[in-house]
Amino acid sequence: MTKLEKARDYEVKNQTDPNRQPAFHLTPPVGWMNDPNGFSVYNGKVHLFYQYHPYDLRWGPMHWGHQSSADMIVWDRMPVVLAPDQPYDQDGCFSGTAIATDAGHLLVYTGVTKENGVEVQNQCLAIGDGRVYRKLDRNPVVRGEMMPAGFSRTDFRDPKIWKEDENWWMVVGSRDEERGQIALFASDNGMDWKYERVLLAAEDGFGTMWECPDFFRLDGKSVLICSPQNVEAMDYTFHNGHNGVAFVGESDAMNFQGVKAQPLDYGFDFYAPQTTTLPDGRQVLIAWMSSWHSPIVASHQTWSAQMTLPRELSLRNGKLIQQPVRELETWYKETIRYKQVPIQEPQSVAGVEGRYVDFTIRFSKPATSEFTMELAKDERYGTRFTVDPKKGIVELDRTFSGLKEDVITIRRAKIPAEGIQTIRVVMDLYSIELFINEGEMVMSCVIPTAETANQIVFGSEEPIEIDLDFHTIDAPAIRAKREVLA
Ligand code: FRU
Repeated sequence: MTKLEKARDYEVKNQTDPNRQPAFHLTPPVGWMNDPNGFSVYNGKVHLFYQYHPYDLRWGPMHWGHQSSADMIVWDRMPVVLAPDQPYDQDGCFSGTAIATDAGHLLVYTGVTKENGVEVQNQCLAIGDGRVYRKLDRNPVVRGEMMPAGFSRTDFRDPKIWKEDENWWMVVGSRDEERGQIALFASDNGMDWKYERVLLAAEDGFGTMWECPDFFRLDGKSVLICSPQNVEAMDYTFHNGHNGVAFVGESDAMNFQGVKAQPLDYGFDFYAPQTTTLPDGRQVLIAWMSSWHSPIVASHQTWSAQMTLPRELSLRNGKLIQQPVRELETWYKETIRYKQVPIQEPQSVAGVEGRYVDFTIRFSKPATSEFTMELAKDERYGTRFTVDPKKGIVELDRTFSGLKEDVITIRRAKIPAEGIQTIRVVMDLYSIELFINEGEMVMSCVIPTAETANQIVFGSEEPIEIDLDFHTIDAPAIRAKREVLA
């Protein structure tokens, strides 16, 4: 059996019952998953691949797992596509992206090998039909030696590929002796590549290595996304050590000099985001909803980690805005709308409960004293979100979410300058995503809380009124529709 056949056989035989997994957040069928890879549209379906080690709940020799979806909500399991089985990738098929071409669905990934005991990373191609992929004989097509001396050959990974007219482009995560940076390559056929320049490099110690770059245009502006490693916390930003950030350029030129990094998420669990452009023009982002320092795997799980809900991107006053993909709305089951609900003592609101929900709170006027919301709650458990206008911060606290290890449990962030007008909460079996002020600020959080803790409680120091748009999500219907491996 080849390595790929072995992985395929293993995942078919050991796959988890989808009823025991989150309903609409992508999870691996079995084993370990990290970064999203190859997020793309091919033959009418959205495809998502991912860093995958099916045999263990821990990271190991990297494969590419695969799922596809018609709506980014129901994810069908597809056979694993890449295994580390070639001289140029035998130590791992690391992260990368994909693009639809006339010749097929083209994957670009990092092949990892060792030379004299030292790890070396180069960029490789594979082509397929949306199900089966073949690595190209000419691999690796982009090699570290193409870059100037002093650029690391060990930290050179996670290519993003795209095409503009007849020009092909690739950005790759890189570093020199001092700092993280993004290297830019060009090609006129997608096969023969040459090094162009450093697109952007870290300033003021902002990351020792920049991983997982993405580049796209949005509303006439260029956007560069990447994941800098080892960033020190600044104020209430960049608390995750490794962070996902965006640079929004001033024009559509590939120029980011002097542009400030925007945090993409203020929660605990968010890394290695990448985007794709849908046929209707929407730019959608997805990320690993986990963290290298505190991955949460409940003891009964046979799989590790989830992806975030795919998020539609837009720009508002130069800021990158993220909102849940609208396809989620097609899975609403019950809807309840309330106007001006008075809130003070911690209280529930009739009909407002559950673990598969999407609801929005609108404040009649910005809170001037502490407002709290407890989710996934029962007598023992609960994850609390607090708005503290006096301190000017929000706080997400999962200390009592059922965690058995001392992972990071409290995250604080600054209230945006214009205050908080709305909070949208999307919950699936083991996660909470908060979209504040229509996606201006997002916090992603994994919780291991048992499904039976399903109360939602609101409280306020001083009496206030909120409007509430509440929807339950039809998790059983989503799960029943998911295709498993056969
Ligand atoms: C980011 C990352 C990537 C690499 C992959 C390996 O989380 O370190 O840079 O390609 O994970 O699994």
